[in-house]
Amino acid sequence: MKAGPSPANEIPEAGTAYLDGAFVPFADAKVSIATHALQYGTGVFEGIRAYWNPSHEQLYVFRLREHFERMTRSCRIVRIDLPGDADELSEIVLELLRRNAFRSDVYIRPLAYKAARVVKVALHGLRDGFGIYAFPMGGYLSTGGLAAHTSSWRRISDEAIPARAKVSGAYINTALAVDEAGEHRAEEAIFLTAGGHVSEGGGSNLIMVRDGALVTPPVTDDILEGITRQTIAELARELGYAFIERSIDRTELFVCEELFFCGTGAQVAPCVKVDGRQVGDGAVGPIAKAIGERYFAIARGDDASHPEWRTAVFG
Ligand SMILES: Cc1ncc(COP(=O)(O)O)c(C=O)c1O
Repeated sequence: MKAGPSPANEIPEAGTAYLDGAFVPFADAKVSIATHALQYGTGVFEGIRAYWNPSHEQLYVFRLREHFERMTRSCRIVRIDLPGDADELSEIVLELLRRNAFRSDVYIRPLAYKAARVVKVALHGLRDGFGIYAFPMGGYLSTGGLAAHTSSWRRISDEAIPARAKVSGAYINTALAVDEAGEHRAEEAIFLTAGGHVSEGGGSNLIMVRDGALVTPPVTDDILEGITRQTIAELARELGYAFIERSIDRTELFVCEELFFCGTGAQVAPCVKVDGRQVGDGAVGPIAKAIGERYFAIARGDDASHPEWRTAVFG
């Protein structure tokens, strides 16, 4: 078969990865072609960021423990046994980052999966595997004001594939919607629930500013229960803004003052256009700007508040 093109952000097979209890060269962290998760999408993953602070000469992992707490909940839903609790798995990440001696912003990807080589579409009684890799990564979505497209694909419902579990196979839903957004010259998709309310972005949560308050869909509107969303809830309240969880109608996106996506990958990504219509006055709004600045300063450790959200890797 002819090799196709690789995207510019292809992950290099360099450094050290972790697989099933051992640190191994990334190039050796391989699984069988018959792996259950590869056939059926029966994996659970996390995306974690670590920010390099050049003046501190330090790498800070953002909300490390919370990611493994969510991973534990995701695994519980799809019956995968993790090889440790949130603290033990966090320690493996720290050791992995030290072994790779990263001095840049890094993205960390833990993956727990059905490793059994069997033809059996089920979850119970199948052998599990666990790995982590990490690589230098900058932005994912633009943070200077992006365009979004309301997808014709609906968000997977809790009655079919639970969105609150970060399940590998569920990302087909995102991939279809993001492709469609690209065909409409938009960078991010906006999902509606099967019932027609706004749910979230393709790989991010969505927050709207209406009448000066931050409004976001509740966890019962088929969203991934985002750690960044929860971080922003706290920052918003500290900055004096109300943070409200309620269902959002699609047309509210056309009349709101500001809109932004948030997530570990997305960070804080203001949205200035939805379905070809300008959001607010078509520029990055003051609230998204203030939240974004505070988010980045805290995550990188330039702002010393919320030390409980940062884990230092070195020394
Ligand atoms: C579908 C989806 N929603 C929301 C988020 C945001 O979650 P978090 O802030 O925990 O990264 C993500 C991942 O980043 C995601 O993939």
